[in-house]
Amino acid sequence: MKHTDISKVLKESDLLGKKITVCGWVRTFRESSSVCFLELADGTSFTKLQIVIDKSKISLDAECTRLGASIAATGEVVKAFKGEGVELNAENIVLLGKCPPEYPIQKKRTTLEFLRGIPHLRLRTNTFNAVFKVRSVAAQAVHRYFHERGYYYVNTPIITAREMFRVTTALWNEQTASEEEYFKNDFFGQRAGLSVSGQLEGEVAAMAFSKIYTFGPSFRAEKSNTTRHLSEFWHIEPEVAFAELPDIIEIAEDMIKYLIRAVLNECPDEMTFFDSFMEKGLKEKLNHVLNSDFEVCDYTKAIDILKAAKTDFRFPAEWGSDLQTEHEKYLTEEVFKKPVFVTNYPKKIKSFYMKQNPDGKTVAATDLLVPGIGEIIGCSEREADYDKLVAAMKERGMKLDSYEQYLDLRRFGSVPHSGFGLGFERFVMYVTGVENIRDVTLFPRWVGNVM
Ligand code: 4AD
Ligand code: MG
Repeated sequence: MKHTDISKVLKESDLLGKKITVCGWVRTFRESSSVCFLELADGTSFTKLQIVIDKSKISLDAECTRLGASIAATGEVVKAFKGEGVELNAENIVLLGKCPPEYPIQKKRTTLEFLRGIPHLRLRTNTFNAVFKVRSVAAQAVHRYFHERGYYYVNTPIITAREMFRVTTALWNEQTASEEEYFKNDFFGQRAGLSVSGQLEGEVAAMAFSKIYTFGPSFRAEKSNTTRHLSEFWHIEPEVAFAELPDIIEIAEDMIKYLIRAVLNECPDEMTFFDSFMEKGLKEKLNHVLNSDFEVCDYTKAIDILKAAKTDFRFPAEWGSDLQTEHEKYLTEEVFKKPVFVTNYPKKIKSFYMKQNPDGKTVAATDLLVPGIGEIIGCSEREADYDKLVAAMKERGMKLDSYEQYLDLRRFGSVPHSGFGLGFERFVMYVTGVENIRDVTLFPRWVGNVM
């Protein structure tokens, strides 16, 4: 159908006085004795287009006035009668699709919780339009950021030989004597699962191209039924050769600021909306983040701060245990009031691949914590020394033969290198003020839910 996007109609002044056709869904309808006003949304812009219908010229099919009905409207673009902007003086309105009154999205404000039950329709609301605009702009900015800096974009496998979520074509057969035998007859002839991270394969690529990143889905089978965990989330993972921990921290901070700037610049209407309805002071918060250096705080110092805090934590902070959400909140919201890189965690609570520090107790790892959410980035310098890596794997009882290729990277021209993983949904929550990760995902998956 020949038509013009509403975003274009609202933006381009050379359309004034021209006759055009717009298509979309009816958002509001009101009428006086002589005129009808219909707000039309096609999703291409946050602002809707007002269609003005002169009752003496057009007899409007009542079906065209129902909330949610889809129509095509043809007419002249004119200066808005009230306020700034433009509207369309309709000459013809065609019904594309009827929408009966049981359409669940009605004018009165519905709750996010209610909308979660209708994921196939909730995208037609202002809130979800704005969330997905920001998400899309941020995703484009991720690619731009790395592309402008010469990173290779690589796609790491989604199906791997590890992990919890099993990939199989075989029906369960109780007669098989062992797991091994069961998987032998399966599609890949061995156990296969959905990747939790592209990092290990990303390291392979970084050992050839120096700077790479991946941006794809990761799968976690944790049974965490929280507002910040999904079973399927999107993961941005750069891996950089010749980078040590301070270098990768610098890259992470620079990238986060770049993404925030992109969202503020490219989504002004959406960010004003979030500032008013989702998190008061959101834009100021983000501008403050842009203008300040992120804090870097050693884990050991963080534990000291938490121990000295006059707050009753549910889990007292102890050196050697992981930071709880309440600790992360305290550090970012009460102490530093900005994003914080907590560095040098105890090796016992972190992964085998992290570079072991000379103290023998900690690893060169960092989590980036932000107010309101907690961890959005997991990051580390990687252990580049073959013997130390093998020792860390043996300590954890890992099977070395499953990691032969990974270990080869340490045999053939090993170099210092570092990388991180940014949870894309958590980033979107941070910049929009949306408090539940299920509201920044088209079809969220979590334990017990695969709608
Ligand atoms: O801290 P994580 O587990 O780190 C890794 O996977 C590393 N291999 C990354 C790397 O160094 N390349 O995950 C990284 C980030 C977390 O900080 C969080 O933002 C996000 O991924 N994340 C989740 N997001 C939503 N739901 C979940 N279940 C998540 N688990 C991790
Ligand atoms: Mg982590």
